[in-house]
Amino acid sequence: MLVYKTEEEIDILRRNNLLVSKTLAEVAKLIKPGVTTLELDKRAEEFIRDNGAVPGFLGYGGYPNTLCTSINDEVVHGIPSNRVLKNGDIVSVDCGTFMEGFYGDTAYTFPVGEVKDDVMNLIKTTKESLFKGIDNAIDGLRIGDVGYAVQFHAEKAGFSVVREMVGHGLGRDMHESPEVPNYGKRGRGIKLATGLVICIEPMINMGSKYIKQDNDGWTIRTIDGKPSAHFELAIVVRKEKAEILSTFKYIEEVKNFGI
Ligand code: MF3
Ligand code: CO
Ligand code: CO
Repeated sequence: MLVYKTEEEIDILRRNNLLVSKTLAEVAKLIKPGVTTLELDKRAEEFIRDNGAVPGFLGYGGYPNTLCTSINDEVVHGIPSNRVLKNGDIVSVDCGTFMEGFYGDTAYTFPVGEVKDDVMNLIKTTKESLFKGIDNAIDGLRIGDVGYAVQFHAEKAGFSVVREMVGHGLGRDMHESPEVPNYGKRGRGIKLATGLVICIEPMINMGSKYIKQDNDGWTIRTIDGKPSAHFELAIVVRKEKAEILSTFKYIEEVKNFGI
């Protein structure tokens, strides 16, 4: 069942996703060689609570933290720990909030210090592919148009698209219908209509598209150990152009990460 949101509900979703965006900017200030992912997590939790929300991921399906921090070959759902970020790493930071009955959900992949050109290209391409998807998330187009645009851009650059994990509707639940795959065929799938709120979140691998799960029950990593990047924004489908509810603006004001 698809849940279309009223403008009042969209206002609440906008507040949640702006808070997530600002939280990611607080995290961005701390990202450098030597910081642990648990330090990032602590700052994010504090900032979310100081702003009147609660962490959206904490306790979700038993998840233990505020952030998902996924380093290098980790695709998504990496659990914050005492692991130290090193020069040349990349880290996907995915963050969620919950307030006034609705969720926020947004992610950004940061380079740590100096990152090799081919890995920077992976990050850049993944971010671009997200915006290609957003360009197609308009009233009257279909979910397959979004996935096709993401996939086309990623594969053109020689990268591969993770299939098992997908974007999703966002609202009173963090994961609502529809599923939003990052691959697809033009003109296929459900028709998008005004008021549908979705998260588009390409997970793009440098090598094989295949993934595996660690024994911790959460961490997803590439099968071949090559790096993976992940960006996510929440958007509302509208007539001419999607309205983007979250933003990377605050992150990129902290520092130019070169993406
Ligand atoms: N934020 C993830 C997504 O983009 C889901 C995180 S699951 C959790 O869909 F358990 F870690 F919260
Ligand atoms: Co997310
Ligand atoms: Co999501």
